[in-house]
Amino acid sequence: MTYTLAFDVYGTLIDTHGVVEALQAHVGPDAVRFSQCWRDKQLEYSFRRGLMGCYADFSICTRQALDYTCDALDKPLPEPVRESLMAVYRVLPAFDDVAAGLQQVRAAGHRVYAFSNGSAAAVNGLLRHAGLDDLVDGAVSVEAVASFKPDPAVYAHFLAATGSDADSVWLISSNPFDVLGAQAVGWKTAWVQRNPATVFDPWGVTPSCTVTGLDKLASCLEQV
Ligand code: 2OP
Repeated sequence: MTYTLAFDVYGTLIDTHGVVEALQAHVGPDAVRFSQCWRDKQLEYSFRRGLMGCYADFSICTRQALDYTCDALDKPLPEPVRESLMAVYRVLPAFDDVAAGLQQVRAAGHRVYAFSNGSAAAVNGLLRHAGLDDLVDGAVSVEAVASFKPDPAVYAHFLAATGSDADSVWLISSNPFDVLGAQAVGWKTAWVQRNPATVFDPWGVTPSCTVTGLDKLASCLEQV
C-alpha cells in the first residue's frame, strides 16, 4: 500500500541544533545548553499561542525564544548577533539520513510532504537550501489555520490540503508531541529516534513504528 507521508520539518528533516556552531562564537561552551533552551522555549511559545488563540508566525516564536534564552542564561547578545542567529535559523542543515530516506519512500510510490509549524516561505527556503525541494511533492504550513501543532485543526488542514484521508496518512516526526497529536486524530505515525537517549512521552501511546533514521523508514512502511 502507498501512503501520504507528512514529514515534520524542524527537528526531523532539519537539525535545529545546526545553530550550535554559530552560537559557539558568541556563548562559547554554553552553546549546546543555549540551543536546547532556545528550541524548548520556541516550542513552548507555539503551544501557548495555539492554546490562547494568539497565533503569530513561527519565526516570532523563534525570535522571542531567542530573546528569552539570552535573558535566562544571562547572555546579553547585541542585536546584530541576534539577527545573525535568526539568519542561520533560516538555512539550518538537514540531518544526514534525510535525502536517502526521502528518495527511498518516493521510489516506493509514497506521496511526500513537508508539514510544519513554520511558514510556507520559511519551510520552502529551508528545503531549497538543504537541496531537498525536489524530493517533496509540496509543503503544508499551519499558517493557513493560524494555530500550531498539536491542535487537531492543523492535522485536519493537512488532510484537506493534500486531499487525503486519515487512514492513508503517516506523520513522520522526531517530536513526540507531534506523534501524539497525529495519532490522536487517527493517523499512523513513525517516531524518528535518532538519539537512543531520547525519551518518548509516557502517555500509554505507542507510535506505529520507531526508526533510528529516515533511511530506515521505507522498510518500516512495508511492514505495517
Ligand atoms: C515543525 O512543525 C514541530 O517545529 C516542528 O516543523
